[in-house]
Amino acid sequence: MDKHDVLPIGEIVQRSGFAASALRFYESEGLIEAMRSGGGQRRYQRSVLRRLAFIRAASNVGLTLEEIKDELSRLPSNRTPTKSDWHRISQHWRGRLDEQIVALERLKTGLESCIGCGCLSLQRCAFSNPGDWVASSDSAPGAGLLPDSLRKPHPTRR
Ligand code: FES
Repeated sequence: MDKHDVLPIGEIVQRSGFAASALRFYESEGLIEAMRSGGGQRRYQRSVLRRLAFIRAASNVGLTLEEIKDELSRLPSNRTPTKSDWHRISQHWRGRLDEQIVALERLKTGLESCIGCGCLSLQRCAFSNPGDWVASSDSAPGAGLLPDSLRKPHPTRR
């Protein structure tokens, strides 16, 4: 391996925009790998930058940490992803974005009907309790209009 293909954590931070703590977190979760220098400092293969760009894009789409891991596990490790790899991934992400757009439109509609009220009543507010789902569900209160994908915590938060 060319020494120019191995980068210190500071350069990865600078070039990726991720904090060092985020890099350590992703390493602990198995999304990226680091080597150690003779002095014990983290060193990364240049290709980690591409994985980090993928993680950021997937996170922006709303994928959970587990979903990002799953997607990364299906990407080739020995070559650059091809057009067909990206086509497959983008089809999946398009479905996710469509689902989120629908959910957000429903939230917006509910919010507009509540403007000026503010009661958030579980008995009569279509925004806080659409279809009286609280009465017919074992779910915890809140976020009743959101699909499961929008209820999951952000991948970088626990
Ligand atoms: S906030 Fe009052 S009905 Fe929604």
